[in-house]
Amino acid sequence: MAPYQTQTLRPDAEGIARAAAWLADGQLVALPTETVYGLAGDATSDLACARIFEAKGRPRFNPLIVHLPSLETARKIAAFPGDAEALAGAFWPGPLTLVLPLKPGHGLSPLVTGGLETVALRVPEHGVMQAVLAKLGGPVAAPSANPSGRISPTTAAHVLAGLSGRIAAVLDAGPCTVGIESTILAPGPEGTRLLREGGLPREAVEPLTGPLVPDTTPGTVQAPGQLGSHYAPAAALVLNSDLSDPHAIRIGFGPAEADLTLSRTGDLVEAAASLFRTLHEADALATARNLPIHIAPIPDRGLGRAINDRLRRAAAPRS
Ligand code: TXA
Ligand code: MG
Repeated sequence: MAPYQTQTLRPDAEGIARAAAWLADGQLVALPTETVYGLAGDATSDLACARIFEAKGRPRFNPLIVHLPSLETARKIAAFPGDAEALAGAFWPGPLTLVLPLKPGHGLSPLVTGGLETVALRVPEHGVMQAVLAKLGGPVAAPSANPSGRISPTTAAHVLAGLSGRIAAVLDAGPCTVGIESTILAPGPEGTRLLREGGLPREAVEPLTGPLVPDTTPGTVQAPGQLGSHYAPAAALVLNSDLSDPHAIRIGFGPAEADLTLSRTGDLVEAAASLFRTLHEADALATARNLPIHIAPIPDRGLGRAINDRLRRAAAPRS
């Protein structure tokens, strides 16, 4: 691929217009969302979608999430079975992705859907992302803007560290507020399946859907986020540590002494928002001094479930 001089755009009218113009031209632009930065391309363009896989170095053509400005635009692309209408009504715009049956004439590139009969749709809340979607006037495919298998980006600097020279631009709107990818649900006639824990906690969803069905269906797509080793720092990562070993970069949760912390007050929302930034920072310190990273236990409730899911994958043996 021809190397790019990756530009940094400001989150103003000019930056938004430039981002939309590049997307309309089939180029890739990393865009801010409330969850993580997304590597955006025109979801109707085969070329743009192929460039996404190339830029990320993704080993396989896993289906991508399609970002839309509103529920009305989503209804033109997919059907809303089971709890889908209620979920979209309650949580869009926001950190929720719904896997839904495609409608005929949807117009998306088959690379977005991986040739499936379903599509993952999300209406993000971030004002800058919404402005780009409005300006472009079409669907945007966007996986997290990191090289495949590495830590997800929650700042423009993270995006550039992984993808500089591989994409046209990054639109810098500061750190992401949620900090962890969207929750992925698949509503259907037999209830709603949970495909990925994420920024919308299960406790918020279940009053509406009833108990979520674990995703055990054989033959479903393996989400990259569901592969063993993912979100991986370069340094070794040890989970549930009591942080007593000084020969490590120690990440705390709560008031106990540590080198870095996800949240000194033990707040899971703050911990999710700082998770990937803290892992990036710990990884730089750990690799420079050839030390492992030790991280304190995180309670398995609310956003703690999504945090622990990402940490388990980050610590998994590398393939
Ligand atoms: O917060 C997010 O969701 C971020 C921001 C940028 O929006 N995006 C993101 O995209 O995490 P990505 O591509 O890294 O994750 C998309 C996930 C993948 O694990 C993929 O396998 C799954 O969604 N997926 C997409 N389409 C699917 C489908 N039809 N059936 C099942 N899973 C699907
Ligand atoms: Mg990802």
